[in-house]
Amino acid sequence: MSSTSASIAERAGAARSDSIGRLGGVRVGVPDPPATAAFLRDGLSFAVADADDSIVASCVGDYGRSGQAAIELREATELTLIEVIWEVADDYDVAALEARLHASGRPVTQRGDGVAFTDPAGVPMTCVPATVRQHPAPPHDPLRPRRLGHINLKAPDPVAASAFYVEVLGLRLSEQIGENLFFLRIASEHHNIGLRGGESGGLHHLGFEIEGWNVYQPILDRLAELGVAIEYGPGRHRPGNNLFAYLRDPSSGLRIELFADMAHIADGTAYEPRRWQATDRLSKTINRWGPLPPASFLE
Ligand SMILES: [Fe+2]
Repeated sequence: MSSTSASIAERAGAARSDSIGRLGGVRVGVPDPPATAAFLRDGLSFAVADADDSIVASCVGDYGRSGQAAIELREATELTLIEVIWEVADDYDVAALEARLHASGRPVTQRGDGVAFTDPAGVPMTCVPATVRQHPAPPHDPLRPRRLGHINLKAPDPVAASAFYVEVLGLRLSEQIGENLFFLRIASEHHNIGLRGGESGGLHHLGFEIEGWNVYQPILDRLAELGVAIEYGPGRHRPGNNLFAYLRDPSSGLRIELFADMAHIADGTAYEPRRWQATDRLSKTINRWGPLPPASFLE
């Protein structure tokens, strides 16, 4: 596997037929799962329910037909990304995925109906058929997030991590800022994985799509009533052109991005990944509206 960003950009132009499907959800360890669940329920309108060994916070769902078990909370001494779950179609070629994982030197284990592996930063992942994770849709609530749209991960070598997501999982590079921030997509949505330099296996944020600009105000007013301040935003990122507001669970530090208006890349075969200079990050890309983030956001 090449670790040069130029080769990632070259390879990213080639559409793959074996797309990883979609993000199904994450398992996250937090010190006080009921407290985090209360933040997600009372502050952000997630539907929350106890499960066998976790608390499940769910969204309306990808397409309105079913729900998405987006976050499974488990007890841990500190905030920990336990697992990323990918959901694939029944005809997805799992054997080909396993072959690519083996070829890239990633161990693969069988896990129930799917396979388990880690990305180069050590983030555990499973790939399972979407049909085994069907989840009832919670009642409609205009303030409830629609779905987990992307995960932003830290990696000691984001160039190598990006190469893995392109060459092994079949994502495509949409945009990069220097060699330290990469945005990769599964299908047309601008990004479903973000990668940034940082400690191995670290989670920067979970990105949840909300209905649109109209619901930021009631959501943020309600959070203010609960004593939860916005960490950063509202604003508009340049990569993806999406609206954003970032919030942190007071008990765990789990960072949630509420996003809307994410760009789609309609013709992926003609699209050339956009490459910014590292020095463009704060001056040109992080917020088209101007205000810069606090130091906590850049850690
Ligand atoms: Fe994001």
